[in-house]
Amino acid sequence: MPDISIPQKARPFLKWAGGKRQLLEQLKSHFPPELDDGCITRYVEPFIGSGAVFFDLVQTYIQDDCLIADVNPELILVYLTIQSRVDELIDQLGDLERDYLSLSEADRQNFYYQIRARYNNQRDLIDFGVLESAWVERSVNMLFLNRTGYNGLYRVNSKGDFNVPCGRYKNPRILDEENLHNVSAVLNRVSIRYGDFEDVADFVDDKTLVYFDPPYRPISETAHFTTYSKQAFNDNQQLRLADFYRQLDAKGAKLMLSNSDPHNIDPHDDFFERAYDGFRIERLQAKRNINRDPTKRGPISELLILNY
Ligand SMILES: C[S@@+](CC[C@H](N)C(=O)[O-])C[C@H]1O[C@@H](n2cnc3c(N)ncnc32)[C@H](O)[C@@H]1O
Repeated sequence: MPDISIPQKARPFLKWAGGKRQLLEQLKSHFPPELDDGCITRYVEPFIGSGAVFFDLVQTYIQDDCLIADVNPELILVYLTIQSRVDELIDQLGDLERDYLSLSEADRQNFYYQIRARYNNQRDLIDFGVLESAWVERSVNMLFLNRTGYNGLYRVNSKGDFNVPCGRYKNPRILDEENLHNVSAVLNRVSIRYGDFEDVADFVDDKTLVYFDPPYRPISETAHFTTYSKQAFNDNQQLRLADFYRQLDAKGAKLMLSNSDPHNIDPHDDFFERAYDGFRIERLQAKRNINRDPTKRGPISELLILNY
């Protein structure tokens, strides 16, 4: 039986575009009832990002039989480092925070761009396959850039260089030591993988809940955010994902998938109704800003596609 008395200690440690904190309560109300009666014993999240749903669920329902994955190697490197080298990471991030906060505003900008340049220059020297000391410094730099960069974005250009400009925060909290310890304790109980979403198939059985939160299909010409990684997630990728959803459905797993709702812009665009024909499509209300013109911003709906 799930122990819902456990306090939720570990929270997402990164700001991440498309983070699900805001929608969490609505998503939770759509969790399958089998989570409550203990019939679901595994959890898989193949587009982990900052992991808002994962951190909530792993501290409420499924304590250890979890797999999280993402195709962004830098992101997975940070998760694996926090899993096994959190003390070193905290020490080094604390040093960096002290150095940064002691500087004037102008010098902080220079400092940010120095760290960003180092982060990009060192990429080719990193062996992403072997956890080594260099991973700690890389994770420290990534967390620093995430906390002090513009809007906490993670964005790379076509060469793979991280290209977010510095942000304008008066006193950014760069190191949250307690949270990192709590995150590390949670991550020690779960499996973490770098790879494409299809690579999680072997872990999924009929007692598994899978939550998919892929890059959203752009709903208008101007709304296409985001290069989380060098590869684009275009309509062909969305359809490959729909095929994979059907494969896992055939295994008897419970499936939840988020995406944008084309009907916000074009009521005749039935891309998802066709791709997920036969499954349940719910519309959730979100407060995302999809319009550059602030007067035209308001609640929009997002899709939740369920096989139960
Ligand atoms: C919308 S974000 C997930 C947001 C996350 N739910 C959160 O709360 O922060 C999408 C994620 O999918 C990852 N991604 C993109 N293409 C992928 C692929 N083919 N396989 C696995 N992950 C992929 C991106 O690196 C990104 O982290």
